[in-house]
Amino acid sequence: MRFDTIIKNGTVVTASDTFKSDVGICDGKIAALAGCLDNAHEIIDATGLYVMPGGIDSHVHIAQPSGDGIVMADDFSSGTLSAAFGGNTTILPFCMQEKGTTLREALKDYHAKAEGNCHIDVSFHLIITDPTAYVLGQELPALVEDGYTSLKVFMTYENLRLRDDQILDTLDSARRSGALVMVHCENEDAIRYLIGQHEEKGELAPKFHALSRPVAAEREATHRALSLAEIVGTPIVIVHVSNRQAMEEIERARKRGSKVAGETCPQYLLLTADDLDATELEGAKFVCSPPPRDKESQLACWEGLQNGTFELFSSDHCPFRFDDDGGKLNEKGKRNFRWIPNGIPGVETRLPILFSEGVSKGRIDINRFVALSSTNHAKQYGLYPRKGTIAIGSDADIALWDPRKSVIVTNDILHHGADYTPYEGLEVVGWPIRVLLRGTTIVDEGVFKGQSNGGTYLRRDRTA
Ligand code: URP
Ligand code: ZN
Ligand code: ZN
Repeated sequence: MRFDTIIKNGTVVTASDTFKSDVGICDGKIAALAGCLDNAHEIIDATGLYVMPGGIDSHVHIAQPSGDGIVMADDFSSGTLSAAFGGNTTILPFCMQEKGTTLREALKDYHAKAEGNCHIDVSFHLIITDPTAYVLGQELPALVEDGYTSLKVFMTYENLRLRDDQILDTLDSARRSGALVMVHCENEDAIRYLIGQHEEKGELAPKFHALSRPVAAEREATHRALSLAEIVGTPIVIVHVSNRQAMEEIERARKRGSKVAGETCPQYLLLTADDLDATELEGAKFVCSPPPRDKESQLACWEGLQNGTFELFSSDHCPFRFDDDGGKLNEKGKRNFRWIPNGIPGVETRLPILFSEGVSKGRIDINRFVALSSTNHAKQYGLYPRKGTIAIGSDADIALWDPRKSVIVTNDILHHGADYTPYEGLEVVGWPIRVLLRGTTIVDEGVFKGQSNGGTYLRRDRTA
């Protein structure tokens, strides 16, 4: 048999196994796993490298309307390019319904933004902000049939949050149609109260963002989301979990029999609330929600990645420029933390951080790395086994990792549209040096070799 491409002499890693094998690729799919494959148009020597499934980042915000003159730093072109350089082959950005509009209108808009501009494969989660009878009764069931099988609801942010009755109605519609619901758990009323308290005292610097969003606000909302899902009888995903108390809520719900997945992100492993207390307005660079906590919370999140509280490790890439009128330091944001847009960039650094801090430092093994960064995302969101593994018949989405390569992360080596990285100066050991999307090399030794429109849109199966 003649293959299009053979990856030779590498160590193949999946979520369950590590083995020496060549990988034969035909028509963009993995066609053979065996020793001594040798008949191909192209042979890639992977001696000393790990051959892993391309990363799947299932929590990414790109070109999302942010209101008030605020503009996200990435469009689909820069966001997917940055993701590719970070070892990813699929990302799942959010398509946000704006109040007063329909889901179909939001999708038309997002597809127009993405079409022809994606360097890697993409698939959208919906964000529901206006759960009308039409949206929940007509649109959502039809869209799930069309492959939009997951959605996010917010318990915080004035313009996005749903009330409990709206969350119940949304969970109910999702249960009937088989959509999976992701929940952002923070208690908006408690946060509003605390913001008011800080404003009264003139406490307006970025560090008060973290103080106005305490662990208790996240824990309470996590408990409530899990309770509402239990009452309706539908699985949920608790996204971007930052601390032990919220993790304990997830574990308790599982013990009661609930089906719940947990997600955490790099910022909760490497940053703390002290980062928001930097000199001048530098702290604005780290403003995200939930905010980074403390060292103990970092340890808790590591434990959760090790013991299965978390199945998903995502970036929550939500990039804004720092020194920019439309970004973190907009006129109002300079004067009061409540106007600093929430979110930080991270789609390109997610995998090197997990590899370096997790695998290279001995906190997780290489199979767990693959599970947390790729396979579980594909399983959770209806892409498995087409994506997320190295198996015969799967798309040949592959990242070749050099486990010894040391890189200092600085903003100038990254490809996102933000003008900073929260991880400036961090040394990582382990780097994705070559990335293949459906069998075609798209990144090789720091050079983009693919096509700026080479990504496709992925319809997904139900998993809920
Ligand atoms: O601060 C964050 N995380 N911004 C992104 C939006 C979200 O809540 O996921
Ligand atoms: Zn969120
Ligand atoms: Zn997010």
